Amino acid sequence: QEEQRQISSRMSNMMGDNQEADLKVVHQTERQLLIPPVLEPSSKSKENVIYDIVAQNGEVQIMDGEKTETLGYNGDFLGPVIRLKKGQKVTINTNNNLDASTSFHWHGLKVASDADGGPHQIIEAGQKKSVTFEVDQEASTLWFHPHPEGETASQVYKGLAGLMYIDDDNSKSLDLPSKYGVDDIPLIVQDKSFSSTNQINYENDFNSDGTKGETLLTNGTINPYIEIKNRWMRYRIVNGSNSRNFTFTLDKDESFYQIATDGGFLNTSVKLSKLLLAPGERAEILVDTQNYKKGEVIHLLANNLVALTMRIENTIENKEFTPSDSLNTISTLDEKKLEDLARQSINLRGMSHMVNINNKQFDMERIDLYKKLGTQEIWKVNNISSMMGGMIHPFHIHGVQFQILSRDGNQPALNEQGWKDTVLVNPDETVELLVKFDREGIFMYHCHILEHEEYGMMGQMEIK
Ligand code: C2O
Ligand code: CU
Ligand code: CU
Repeated sequence: QEEQRQISSRMSNMMGDNQEADLKVVHQTERQLLIPPVLEPSSKSKENVIYDIVAQNGEVQIMDGEKTETLGYNGDFLGPVIRLKKGQKVTINTNNNLDASTSFHWHGLKVASDADGGPHQIIEAGQKKSVTFEVDQEASTLWFHPHPEGETASQVYKGLAGLMYIDDDNSKSLDLPSKYGVDDIPLIVQDKSFSSTNQINYENDFNSDGTKGETLLTNGTINPYIEIKNRWMRYRIVNGSNSRNFTFTLDKDESFYQIATDGGFLNTSVKLSKLLLAPGERAEILVDTQNYKKGEVIHLLANNLVALTMRIENTIENKEFTPSDSLNTISTLDEKKLEDLARQSINLRGMSHMVNINNKQFDMERIDLYKKLGTQEIWKVNNISSMMGGMIHPFHIHGVQFQILSRDGNQPALNEQGWKDTVLVNPDETVELLVKFDREGIFMYHCHILEHEEYGMMGQMEIK
């Protein structure tokens, strides 16, 4: 079986995705999946909550043998989950204990740009900064990572990535698995390479069209397993890799249900046998393991390799539970109203160090677009390939959650009809997005292949 997986992964590589480093099977003992801790507030009143986050150097036992030098938030590697509620006033004290400057970007969070943590909100080594905001968006799985110009890719690759969950009345009322670490599990899926001394060497692995690693990690664990009961499991998946797309499947292409996109719940769950996530994208899925018996295993695969082994360690008497199917009430504008909206073209072009948006490469000193607070627009995102070929660009906008209106004129797939902040745009494809500008300040939009972002596939808009 293992061999089959290797072969099919090699096949899909030959069929063209990538010439670069392919994921390989790691022959290493299974380890228990690491579950990120939930961050305790440093202080809390009824409406106000304060958190402290520290970016720091770490060292962790990822492989057998030598420990790996890493970066992490409030720990050696990756980060905790910050759990927020809609309506809360939040202060986050961010501390940079690294030897380099960094920033704390809350990917998917709708806040004014001074709290967004983009490349303008740099914190020098040894410095700290506080941000305050009110949570004003629906229940969702967001994440956070650094965003300093020129250092984003290397810092993420070395381990800086954490989770931010938002809860609201709707999420509380839905009949969904919600016991954190038991049946509600985050999965940060990444690829990294390790040297002969088990070190992560970004410069070595660097690729100008997207750095890829050979080893698949889930929550920083190689070959992870989790012991569960036969029940409905909810996984909140983040593609936290620098550039690799992941296709998630179960054994024998069994089906599962997607219930949420980047920015919240879908209106109804969508049955899938395959789920593709580009870097920066998230999805929540439900997996039904009720029909499995004690001792059986189920695999969640990413690109045909095991991203998680679920071991049924005990059975429970099931009361034939089926999770809520009506999850949200997202509506879109009718045709007529859409027609009246202004259009904005976003042309993604080039490869490696030539990548650009609308023929310009990123310049901190230049504002590319000005938008009026409170207005809506249709963004036509065109992925224009050249004679050199084309590639997928995951296009991300800060400070908003948008809706996908169409892909090449066609309705987006059912599991893309929810709130998004990052959208995968295929070569030669045009994707139309309905974007609303309701936060003030200067916001980035960029390709979430982190090396493309570093090479200038990023622009900035001022909303006022
Ligand atoms: Cu997830 Cu501008 O980033
Ligand atoms: Cu972002
Ligand atoms: Cu790109």
